Amino acid sequence: MLQDKDRIFQNLYGYGDWTLDGAKKRGAWDNTKGLLEKGKDWIISEMKASGLRGRGGAGFPTGLKWSFMPKPDPNRPSYLVINADESEPGTCKDREILRNDPHLLVEGALVAGFAMGASAAYIYVRGEFIFERERLQGAVDQAYAANLIGAKNIHGYPFEVIVHHGAGAYICGEETALLESLEGKKGMPRLKPPFPANMGLYGCPTTVNNVESIAVAPTILRRSAAWFASFGAKNNAGTKLFSISGHVNKPCNVEEAMSIPFRELIEKHAGGVRGGWDNLLAVIPGGSSVRCVPAAQIIDTPMDFDSLSALKSGLGTAAVIVMDKSTDIIRAIARLSHFYKHESCGQCTPCREGTGWMYRIMQRMVEGRAQKKEIDLLFDVSKQIEGHTICALGDAAAWPIQGLINHFRPVIEARIESYTARADADAVKVAAQ
Ligand SMILES: Cc1cc2nc3c(=O)[nH]c(=O)nc-3n(C[C@H](O)[C@H](O)[C@H](O)COP(=O)(O)O)c2cc1C
Ligand code: SF4
Repeated sequence: MLQDKDRIFQNLYGYGDWTLDGAKKRGAWDNTKGLLEKGKDWIISEMKASGLRGRGGAGFPTGLKWSFMPKPDPNRPSYLVINADESEPGTCKDREILRNDPHLLVEGALVAGFAMGASAAYIYVRGEFIFERERLQGAVDQAYAANLIGAKNIHGYPFEVIVHHGAGAYICGEETALLESLEGKKGMPRLKPPFPANMGLYGCPTTVNNVESIAVAPTILRRSAAWFASFGAKNNAGTKLFSISGHVNKPCNVEEAMSIPFRELIEKHAGGVRGGWDNLLAVIPGGSSVRCVPAAQIIDTPMDFDSLSALKSGLGTAAVIVMDKSTDIIRAIARLSHFYKHESCGQCTPCREGTGWMYRIMQRMVEGRAQKKEIDLLFDVSKQIEGHTICALGDAAAWPIQGLINHFRPVIEARIESYTARADADAVKVAAQ
């Protein structure tokens, strides 16, 4: 188990003081100037050596991403955009950083912005996060008042931080939809290329990073890349915030070492599975967008990017949704299908039409009012959406259904059989008939 002294988020639960005074006592803003004086190249190479992979879901190496930013051009500013949209079902970790340790993020913004030559950071906050936005704005105001950021700050690198409040749309968490929304347009993903590092916010070079990815940077640089890399399996370095929800005895957010086995994570921090380990049905380990994993496969699996993708699932945002045997797994996945149908921006046909189509079939599958051959049809449709859309929302809508069919086909079939056996069963037509 990760020791308290190795936790980056010392005030995750808000027991301490969130303001600048409290943050400084916990080590934030400690010799930030010294970090900047070591230079951009040093910061980027330390971030690469730390092995930090983006905490927003895709796990792209953070140091490498920063290195993609072009050299500063006096005629064209560069921007850091911090993604605090956090709308992935099950995920509630960035929220705690914004509420309880916002100075880690503000300091991280300065350090990351300096490393990539950005003149400003825009922090895009989820629409529903009113309190969190107020806290974050409070921390930004305190940092300005103490001259830690701003045009002539004590660190000698002019840098602005702007907090922007979204209107509450899941799709605005997708990085290019977020940029559109920041520019005042409808939050619709852009076609890539061009990538944001070349043409991002207002057509200028931009890097988009998750809140957690940025907030951990100053501590990594202060404590060393080797310290961070000492946690977790190879290629899966560091400590990580896990949001544990569902059928556990004590749902919680916790910072743990990456690659902690699932059983240990749940036993040590969430009080075990409700009704004991024999009562575990399945787990969605990375937020609603990844495929579920049945109990037997996940119990001893290290919770990291590579181990979970080997199970055809993913670490995603590390939002661990635990489902015990009381769960109607078909209904649970149908509910997620409704979410993706609702949140599709409608821009590309496979996603716009396919999410609705899959949701309608899923609704019938919940009742069993379907034909068995529709299971393969549904799988086939999900495959036609996956990888055929502008953004990854299409994949996110397809994967939960694929996970359900891969692992729980007998449950779907049994539901269809019991519906068909009912005296009042309608004659079921196949979809699109
Ligand atoms: C539909 C959709 C929603 C997303 N929502 C978020 C989000 O709320 N927060 C986030 O950090 N990344 C989100 N992402 C991932 C971002 O596009 C982007 O990869 C991420 O912010 C990069 O940060 P990182 O490299 O630090 O992980 C979403 C992606 C998609 C496709
Ligand atoms: S995949 Fe869906 S959400 Fe993404 S751009 Fe296409 S229609 Fe919009």
